[in-house]
Amino acid sequence: MKFASKITGTGSAFPAKRVTNDDLVQQLAQLGVETTNQWIVDRTGIQERRIADLENPEERNSALGSKAAMRALDMAGKRPKDIDQIIYATCTADTKLPSSACWLQEKIGAVNAWATDINAACSGFVYGVATADQFIKSGQTQTALVVGAEILTSVNNFKDRSLCILFGDGAGAAIVEQTDADADRRILSSHLHSDGGLWELLHVPAGGSAMVITPERLEQKLHLAQMNGKEIFKVAVRTLSEFAQRALEKNGLTVDTLDWLIPHQANLRILEAVARRLKLAPGKLVINVDRFGNTSGATVPTALDEAVRDGRIRKGQTVLFDVFGAGLTYGSMLLRW
Ligand code: ACO
Repeated sequence: MKFASKITGTGSAFPAKRVTNDDLVQQLAQLGVETTNQWIVDRTGIQERRIADLENPEERNSALGSKAAMRALDMAGKRPKDIDQIIYATCTADTKLPSSACWLQEKIGAVNAWATDINAACSGFVYGVATADQFIKSGQTQTALVVGAEILTSVNNFKDRSLCILFGDGAGAAIVEQTDADADRRILSSHLHSDGGLWELLHVPAGGSAMVITPERLEQKLHLAQMNGKEIFKVAVRTLSEFAQRALEKNGLTVDTLDWLIPHQANLRILEAVARRLKLAPGKLVINVDRFGNTSGATVPTALDEAVRDGRIRKGQTVLFDVFGAGLTYGSMLLRW
């Protein structure tokens, strides 16, 4: 028997605190960091983001992930005990041990699942769905929960003005279920690649076993993210365009037949440049970076959830996920909804 996978439920959750650009400008001014609403909007398209209260257990990574997961389960008409497999994509896990997937499992009572985290940064959700898809196709999994969730505030350097204006916190989730190999509604293909040679473009130097945290390293802010924004911008536009084309070609489709492109939301200018390169018709981009900033692994599932719930994505449509992230990691996934 041959199987395929389909997404049957989506959900998202964000911290309560909305931080507009003007709020951020004021907070940064207290740290001696200068920026303006106009600069942020012109260079990134971001208007506001949600920032988690790091001391509030209800706004931990796995707490937001659990809320998103329960909403996705509800849409799919499933219960936590129906889940066989939990894949939690994050680079800002609650703890090093155990995984956020296990924290979430305990919170939602998914007692029949096995649970693990994966770290592919902003590409994590697509890597996670692609992994679940393989388990489902092999017949080992019937119902998977894939979460993409980040508390980027925990690694954000508010002294670095080109970085700190980009990031936000949030969680998205999808229920991925087994279906027939030739079902109309299914994942059509996935295309993943990484280039570890470009690790330096976005990394957190300290906090892993290669560089444990010491008071000196904390002082130097080595536990926070460091980014070469200009280089990432160029690589992102090139690879997002390439991976979108790859998915379309593999399925014998052209960009005109695509209904929705859901790219990783890092910067509106990146998305617009990719749409221009692909010659994507206006209105086919799903965008949430303006309201939530770059939430890394959460951008695609939260944008998907919004477009499903507001009725933009409808039965029979063709949807393309297209991502890049630290690593660097890349990927695309084509689905028939
Ligand atoms: N406010 C005001 N001025 C600023 C700010 C700010 N927040 N940040 C930088 N500037 C200044 C710089 O100092 C520079 O000034 P100078 O010309 O006097 O030296 C000027 O603005 C231009 O700086 P650039 O870095 O060239 O600005 P750019 O247009 O490249 O925008 C940005 C920077 C927004 C970071 C952009 O490069 C970008 O978005 N890159 C992609 C980042 C990305 O995608 N990261 C995530 C990838 S993976 C993941 O999502 C986890």
